[in-house]
Amino acid sequence: PASDARAGDMGAPTVIAHRGASAYAPENTLASIDKAAQLGFTWVENDVQRTKDGELVVIHDDSLQRTTDVEQVFPDRAPWKVKDFTAAEIARLDAGSWYSPAYAGTRVPTLKDYMCQVEHNHEKLLLEIKNPELYPGIEQQTVKLLGNEGWLDPKHLGRLIVQSFSADSIRTVHELRPAITTAYLGSPTVAQLGQYAPFTDLVNPSYGSLSPTYVSAVHAVKGPHDKPLGVFAWTVNDAATARRVAGYGVDGIITNKPDVVREALASH
Ligand code: G3P
Ligand code: CA
Repeated sequence: PASDARAGDMGAPTVIAHRGASAYAPENTLASIDKAAQLGFTWVENDVQRTKDGELVVIHDDSLQRTTDVEQVFPDRAPWKVKDFTAAEIARLDAGSWYSPAYAGTRVPTLKDYMCQVEHNHEKLLLEIKNPELYPGIEQQTVKLLGNEGWLDPKHLGRLIVQSFSADSIRTVHELRPAITTAYLGSPTVAQLGQYAPFTDLVNPSYGSLSPTYVSAVHAVKGPHDKPLGVFAWTVNDAATARRVAGYGVDGIITNKPDVVREALASH
């Protein structure tokens, strides 16, 4: 069981389109992963939360306000929390116009529809369980959906990584399905790495907290699948930073501008 983006292959870092190719299309929509595919990228990152009636949906903020027209459609429902709206209500919202009129009518995808499009595009998924403290049982529900959609079949496991800022969430996912590749979002100290290693395959820090020494120290620890822990850095959107962080030896770079990062690494 291994993601094919795991550490140790010594190649150039894997480039992951953050919230899809989110510099060029509205984040966390089908349009954003289509854009990533058009640019030639296979790995996309997303954020998963849950509606009032229990549907898993793909959206970053815990409120619908920033990335939809919810204020116009439901003016009396402030602060417009995802968890307070049904899937049918969210399906009415426009999740593209805030970004550009060219994307008017784009919807907040359900995770199920999003997974279908990832499959259709032959993409690979870095799935973030977002704000799990708001959604008890979201780990079980996500793993169940992944299983139902075929993503936990051995031949597909290499196309999936599940990550979270919540160590508890990642530990739960690992315990539910040890074959899933997992990532902890954060920068544990080197001394703390041993606490995370039993249940996380990667440590994914903000690039600002990285150093070559830290990346080496993470690589020196083995994860639950007896492979070196990997490191994906986020969110790197310019060429100079991409080159610097690649030089630290990271295994992946998470970016809103995957084309810029690819170009920077190619001319490294
Ligand atoms: O994938 C890393 C990154 O997505 C974590 O931060 O806030 O963009 O979900 P955020
Ligand atoms: Ca994210």
